[in-house]
Amino acid sequence: MRTQVVIIGGGPSGLLLSQLLHRKGIDTVVLERKTRQYVLGRIRAGILEVGFVDLMREAGVGARMDNEGFIHDGTVIAFDNEDFHVDFKRHTGTTVMVYGQTEVTRDLYDAREAMEGKVVFNVDGVTIHGADSDAPHVTYFVDGVEHRIDCDYVAGCDGFHGVSRQTIPLSVRREYEKVYPFGWLGILSETPPVHEELIYSNSDRGFALCSMRNANLSRYYIQCSLSDSPDDWDDAGFWEELKRRIPEEHADNLITGPSIEKSIAPLRSFVTEPMRWGRLFLCGDAAHIVPPTGAKGLNTAASDIHYLYHGLLAKYQDGEAEGLDSYSGKALARVWKAERFSWATTNMLHRYPDQSEFDIKMQRADLEFLRDNDSAQKVFAENYVGLPY
Ligand code: APR
Ligand code: PHB
Repeated sequence: MRTQVVIIGGGPSGLLLSQLLHRKGIDTVVLERKTRQYVLGRIRAGILEVGFVDLMREAGVGARMDNEGFIHDGTVIAFDNEDFHVDFKRHTGTTVMVYGQTEVTRDLYDAREAMEGKVVFNVDGVTIHGADSDAPHVTYFVDGVEHRIDCDYVAGCDGFHGVSRQTIPLSVRREYEKVYPFGWLGILSETPPVHEELIYSNSDRGFALCSMRNANLSRYYIQCSLSDSPDDWDDAGFWEELKRRIPEEHADNLITGPSIEKSIAPLRSFVTEPMRWGRLFLCGDAAHIVPPTGAKGLNTAASDIHYLYHGLLAKYQDGEAEGLDSYSGKALARVWKAERFSWATTNMLHRYPDQSEFDIKMQRADLEFLRDNDSAQKVFAENYVGLPY
């Protein structure tokens, strides 16, 4: 088989790239290790920057998002039983969209299916050959049978545990990582959100976040120990702890109910450089991970896809290679800024096991400065709604 671009991984990055390219007549094959049901079963964040929203529309998959998504003009930050508001609209003229990653992925799968896009599920043993040559190919197995696809380019969209990044030799690849000494325990519940905007809360018992998916679906998180398991937390224990970590005013309004999903995610910052090796391009979680504070995971994936899509388009339509040649540099420049924001926001809001009295004073000064200073709020808002592509 031959195609123009082999895309490894059928998560949001791979699907979005495939959908955008297909609409411009560029042929792709997506290779996904799991099933569609499995991919859609993963609960991830749900805040879309305006750049992501535009890309979804450009890919022709914005209709349901525009209909069902919620525009948020700002967010609430809480500490010490009080809270303050950061107004994105006033500071940046833009907003964010609340629309779950699961819905984004579902819309992309539906669109790929409607256009008869080639997505192969349940692939095994994906191997990239000759990425640094002019004629790469990819081999993989389905039901024990080996297949081969020759291509012009390979997009590595296979997440943090994928094979694409590992294909880049260690003599070329440099990795940067920070692992945080805590996780987030998240639950999804069919209850109305406690507040119309998200609440990010610093408390001396640890961080908490009140988020949402829609008018009757809420997503809540509490910082937990890495040794905790979701089974250690029954619903009553979760709600009680959440209430103790958010201002009383909100705790009193919280409507609780049974959780329909409960999971723990460890927090990590990670970047690999470069994001291109020959004809292999890394995108999204395959190249970088952020802690979820600030919701930059999906959004940095989207900016990668934007740069790669335009680079491929320029090459196929005009024979112009500049976009592909500058891909890694452009993507990384934006990624590192999102890494900085996610790391700084994580530091501002969480309790660390080894935090000194001094560290706690610094954290408090950070929060008070943000609360009281319009310029600081503007900087926060610019980062939250997403830096320009
Ligand atoms: N072969 C084929 N597919 C693979 C392989 C492999 N060896 N390894 C992983 N995959 C698939 C996974 O099953 C998954 O569906 O690649 C996909 C990667 O998807 P994600 O992990 O969701 O990564 P990405 O598409 O880059 O999405 C952006 O940013 O912070 C996050 O939550 C956010 O998941 C979102 C991500
Ligand atoms: C979520 O709704 O899951 C969510 C929202 C904002 C974050 C992280 C997660 O910063």
